[in-house]
Amino acid sequence: MTAMFAGSAISTGKVDESFFYIVAISVVLLVSVTIVMVFFLFKYNRKKHPEPEAVREPLWLEIVWTVIPTILALSMFYFGWVNFEFIRTPPKNAMTVNVIGREWSWSFTYDNGKQSDLLRVPLNKPVKLILTSADVIHSLYIPAFRIKEDCVPGMKTYLWFNADEAGTYDIFCTEYCGVGHSHMLSKVIVMPTAEYYKWYSAEEVGGLAAEGKKLVQEKGCLGCHSTDGSRKVGPTFKGLHDSIETVLTDGKERKVKVDDEYIEHYIAHPNVDMVTGYPPIMPVIPVTEGELKAIVEYLKTVK
Ligand code: CUA
Repeated sequence: MTAMFAGSAISTGKVDESFFYIVAISVVLLVSVTIVMVFFLFKYNRKKHPEPEAVREPLWLEIVWTVIPTILALSMFYFGWVNFEFIRTPPKNAMTVNVIGREWSWSFTYDNGKQSDLLRVPLNKPVKLILTSADVIHSLYIPAFRIKEDCVPGMKTYLWFNADEAGTYDIFCTEYCGVGHSHMLSKVIVMPTAEYYKWYSAEEVGGLAAEGKKLVQEKGCLGCHSTDGSRKVGPTFKGLHDSIETVLTDGKERKVKVDDEYIEHYIAHPNVDMVTGYPPIMPVIPVTEGELKAIVEYLKTVK
C-alpha cells in the first residue's frame, strides 16, 4: 500500500489494509442506502400515491442485489483472512523473547538469559513473543503494531512482529487484571541492529545491589513501585530506605523507620505494617533469604 499506510511494523500495514477496506465498503453502502432511502421518501410519498399498489420486482434486480453484496462480503472475508493468517504465522527465522505478565508488570527474557522490563528489539527482524502469565489473565497489546494477545497462566500463547521503523512504542495490558491494571505499562524499543546486539551482549554490572535491581525487575516490583519518586499503586522506592513512614498496624497508626529489618519483614509478611495511604494489595512474592538481602542492598541505592 501507499506511504499513508506505512507503519512502524509490517503488521501495521496489513491490519490497516483490511480495516480501511472494510470501512470503505461500509461507507459506500451507508451512503448509497441513505441516498436511495431519501429519494424513495419523496418519490413514493403518500400525497403523490394515495392508493398503494402492488410492485413486482424484476428478476434481474433480485439477482443484482444478491450477487453484489455477496461478492463484497466475501471480499471482506478474503482480505481479513489473508492478513489474519499473515499476522498469526511467525516466520521461521524469527528471534524469540519470552514474556511474563504479572500483577502488574511485564518481564521480557531473551535467549541468553538477559532480562528486562522494556522490550528491546532490532530493526527489520521478525520477533516472536512467547507469552504467559504468572498469576491472572493479562493481555499484551502494542497499538502501533496492531497486535495483541492474551497471557494466560499455565498456557503459552504467541505474537510476532517485524518493526520497520526505529523508535519507542507503547505496550499496554488490555485485560482488566486488578487494581494496578492501568499501571501495567511498558515500551517496545526498536533499535538499529548493531546497537541492539551491543545491548544484548553487554554484561550486567555485578555486586549485590545490581543483583537486587535485577530481582526487583524480575519479580515485578516495579509494576507498583516507581524508582523516580512518582506515585504508583505502592510507595516509591526512591528514598524509601531509612525514611520514616506512618504505618498502620492492627488498625493503629504508628511511625516506623524503614530499615533493613522492616523491609525484610514486610516482603515476607505484606500488608501487616502497611504504609498509610496505599491499598493493602501487595502479593506475597516468594524470595529466598539471599534474594531479600540483595533487594535491600539495591533499595539503599535508590536515592
Ligand atoms: Cu495486566 Cu491488566
